[in-house]
Amino acid sequence: MSAEVYGEHNKKGDFTPKVVAKSEESKQKLQQRLLQAFMFTALEEKEFKIVVDAIEEVTGKAGEDIIKEGDQGDCMYVLEKGTLDCTKVFAGSNDPTFLKKYVPGEGFGELALLYNAPRAATITAKTDYVIWKLDRDTFNHIVKDAAAKKREKYDNFLQSVQILESIDPYERSKLGDAVKEEKFKKGEFIIKEGDDGSKFYLISEGTAIATKDLGGSEPEKVMDYKRGNYFGERALLTSEKRAANIVVTSESCTVLSLERETFNRLLGSLDKILERNMEAYEKYLGKKPS
Ligand code: CMP
Ligand code: CMP
Repeated sequence: MSAEVYGEHNKKGDFTPKVVAKSEESKQKLQQRLLQAFMFTALEEKEFKIVVDAIEEVTGKAGEDIIKEGDQGDCMYVLEKGTLDCTKVFAGSNDPTFLKKYVPGEGFGELALLYNAPRAATITAKTDYVIWKLDRDTFNHIVKDAAAKKREKYDNFLQSVQILESIDPYERSKLGDAVKEEKFKKGEFIIKEGDDGSKFYLISEGTAIATKDLGGSEPEKVMDYKRGNYFGERALLTSEKRAANIVVTSESCTVLSLERETFNRLLGSLDKILERNMEAYEKYLGKKPS
């Protein structure tokens, strides 16, 4: 059966969830693992359980190609153990270009299923490996719509964010999977100076200000924020406490947040730019209360 026919057949809705037997303990561990792979963050609990049941463990050896560029795809994977390399042969070149290394918790092989396209890259095992394999049928019925909707919802916005300009478009689409939307009202604190920080934020709607204790009776305004601006990077990059308050100034404010681990994984390449931009805060250091 061709992939297209199989796709049509799926749309008719005669779907019987697949169940691959697993102990309660391995289900628990698997759930943690799958939550690291952003594809599944948009799922309801019931749908997530179906994925946990359907997914199947596969083991293999160093040197194997798990996915070959140009092949038809009928499943996606989440890495449990081992190291994999992703490479792609770009038009006009015969040699593969290295794209990225995969570490446990990352998902791959979703593009062929999301877009009914041939495999866009090759994934090769650098060590012996263990992966979780999710079949196309379960993906189409349970994951695809929610995941595609979430990617599309944030894609235009993320494309317009200046700090993300240098990010590879594929990595940016993963950001769309990974962000969590949070809403705040006028006057609310998104961040409190002195707190521990574990999240990075982008404003997708509304305005806010940063205020900071500079030794006076009230914290003073040190920065204005609008749609497309970011904050909260400092605590993640320096491991220090939050260095300012972030307070909403519009009637409501919508932010997209990323947890520390996701921030490191997806925005790690921006650390130099972010650190350079942090120099703008330094002019306030001299005024710090002693
Ligand atoms: P898929 O096209 O199904 O198979 C190859 C996988 O490589 C692809 O899904 C993605 O999961 C992964 N991949 C990683 N980086 C890229 C990239 N820059 N472009 C395309 N695919 C990528
Ligand atoms: P973080 O310290 O994690 O949380 C508060 C955020 O306010 C900080 O990251 C920066 O993103 C932002 N900020 C704006 N102005 C300043 C400033 N003068 N000093 C420190 N942080 C600032």
